[in-house]
Amino acid sequence: MQVSPSILNCDYTHLAEVVRFVEQSGADMIHLDVMDGVFVPNLSFGPPVIATLRPLTDLTFDVHLMMQHPDRLIRAFADAGADIINFHVESDADIAATIDAILALGKKAALTVKPRTPAEAVFPYLDKLSLVLVMTVEPGFGGQAFMADMLPKVAAIKAECARRGLNVPVQVDGGVAADTAPLCAEAGVDIVVAGSALFKAADPVALVEQFHRL
Ligand code: DX5
Ligand code: ZN
Repeated sequence: MQVSPSILNCDYTHLAEVVRFVEQSGADMIHLDVMDGVFVPNLSFGPPVIATLRPLTDLTFDVHLMMQHPDRLIRAFADAGADIINFHVESDADIAATIDAILALGKKAALTVKPRTPAEAVFPYLDKLSLVLVMTVEPGFGGQAFMADMLPKVAAIKAECARRGLNVPVQVDGGVAADTAPLCAEAGVDIVVAGSALFKAADPVALVEQFHRL
């Protein structure tokens, strides 16, 4: 599995070092959690902070928009340097139009499902997506417990892609750590997001290697 570290719970006084830490861990991309205080009960950062990070690394910016109106800021996130623009199927955006807007800006589009949303909600859009994210916690905060009962959604998305001859990587986000990652691998997950587990790890390189081997 590939690894996309979430910097949500990092030390914000040292963001440049955080980016270097993610690079040195051997991770495949970097997961940037954008929260608007409406879609989720928390606020994080937006395009200006992402633009500040962009010159520091060539890592893929995997931008997870937890926003009620992601459609209003697609161009801002594209200009800030997002590579994958990922928004929620439960948002108020016109889903198809927002995907098209992301693609028109030359970026990769992705959709996320919250725990109470069935996998089938993303099926109508699969042919235009570069990634589907299955949340394994309620979005809003890092450091929550992994919801293993979300994993059947991964298999459902994989099966639908196979049926239609599509190859869309499936990502999970929330509570992924050394003990829960094997369950993700078994379920067919392609990319894990890991926040607390990686930032608290005694040996982050070893943890990323372990995820890679699974
Ligand atoms: C939750 C965020 C996640 C989260 C991951 O709303 O989307 O990316 O911060 O953090 P951990 O790995 O600590 O659950
Ligand atoms: Zn996230």
